[in-house]
Amino acid sequence: MGELVYINGDLIPKEDAKVSVFDHGFLYGDGLFETMRTYQKEVFRLEHHLQRLFLSLEYLKFPIPFSFVSLKEAIYKTIEANQLEDAYIRLNVTRGEGATVPDPTTCTSPNLIIITREYVPYSPALYQKGYKGKVVHVRPSPHTPSVTMKTLNFLNHIIAKMEAKESGFNEAIMVNTDGFVTEGTVSNIFMLKGDLLCTPAKEVGLLPGITRQAILEIADARELKTKESKITLNELLEADEAFLTNSLIEIMPLVEVDGLPIGKGTPGPLTQELMSCYKKLVKTELKL
Ligand SMILES: Cc1ncc(COP(=O)(O)O)c(C=O)c1O
Repeated sequence: MGELVYINGDLIPKEDAKVSVFDHGFLYGDGLFETMRTYQKEVFRLEHHLQRLFLSLEYLKFPIPFSFVSLKEAIYKTIEANQLEDAYIRLNVTRGEGATVPDPTTCTSPNLIIITREYVPYSPALYQKGYKGKVVHVRPSPHTPSVTMKTLNFLNHIIAKMEAKESGFNEAIMVNTDGFVTEGTVSNIFMLKGDLLCTPAKEVGLLPGITRQAILEIADARELKTKESKITLNELLEADEAFLTNSLIEIMPLVEVDGLPIGKGTPGPLTQELMSCYKKLVKTELKL
């Protein structure tokens, strides 16, 4: 059976899964997405992902022709139709067809697209080695609302990722226009200094990751000291440990930034402990 893509209520063979070139998602990047993961057919923190999506849809004044419940059903229906156990899920909501001017009031109705694929795990060697980050030239502003949303307008992140990759780094580290560390192109950042686990505060302008939130909860449950704060690049470089988080990768040690080691330049003990705590949390929450 070939891959099926969900478009506005229908499951369509991949080859025929198409939307209009007049869709403002295509013309202007006017749309949102969520990237999620299933573990043995169950989506981890689906409600959190959908809450984040709905908050952004409201902010962007999207007419919302689907409910929370119908969206959940659509996701599970697509996973089921594609017979997936451990899946990568990409949910897109675009503004829909409109005039060739950047005016969302010309758009008729949003398009809802769900793509599911088999989840391909990252190699264990990557987790053992850890990621090398590069501080890139792209400077997000804390005053730009789109940096707090998962929008289809991903160009700044793509430019940042290209800069990092072209110099042989795994991920870009972004610093905002005020000089504070924000996030990676597809990940949030954590650092440990002494006994304090810190992550950049939302005010610096970042996507509040679902994994970031889960890590903060794990840390609280373990009575670790945590702080969401404004972190400078020097503070990150002087950290004892650091790691990156996202829904697909979970926790990836960050062992180097701009060629300088963080801590011992290897995945730190707390990072490794949190990596296994996160896996346990997934199993517990999804009753696996
Ligand atoms: C810019 C950015 N920051 C952070 C994250 C991590 O978010 P989550 O933990 O919800 O996957 C992502 C995920 O792709 C992202 O694109």
